[in-house]
Amino acid sequence: MSTRRLAQSEGIVKALIALPFAASLLGVVALTAGAPSVGARQTQTPGAQAFAACRACHTLPAGGKSVMGPNLNKLFGRKAGAAPGFAYSPALKASGIVWDAKTLDAYLAAPTKVVPGTRMVMKVPDPARRAALIAYLKAETK
Ligand code: HEC
Repeated sequence: MSTRRLAQSEGIVKALIALPFAASLLGVVALTAGAPSVGARQTQTPGAQAFAACRACHTLPAGGKSVMGPNLNKLFGRKAGAAPGFAYSPALKASGIVWDAKTLDAYLAAPTKVVPGTRMVMKVPDPARRAALIAYLKAETK
């Protein structure tokens, strides 16, 4: 083997060593970035489980569709009835509610009591389930 060829094959060997290392680094980054949603979906946290009942009507990611119910992205700190592109009930729009853990807890426990005339009728009577759901919403709607 000439010195040049030797140098070339050394380069290849180095590249072969570097590749898996780079790949594993990328893998770590991907895992860290994907952790919240991967964890929520694969291990089905109580919050994700509770949200299964809401999924038929609500989406959480930015730009998600509002079909049966409004998209819930950026829910925390937002006024009730304010997601763009959804036809809310006049009752919810006029409620003056700003969503946070406390107002969500009350609304989800008894929506039609807290906002008479709201079109959202799904109740979550169990306080522990509501707490898990609200934590999940907070993480997934940022
Ligand atoms: C059958 C469809 C349906 C289901 C199931 C449903 N929702 Fe809703 N949701 C709605 C509708 C419709 C509205 C708008 C209500 C209005 O305009 O009065 C709404 C509104 C909301 C709002 C207020 C959003 C805003 O922008 O002010 C929150 C929060 C919410 N829903 C959370 C939930 C959660 C959490 C669940 C699951 C436990 C759930 N919803 C299940 C239809 C649904």
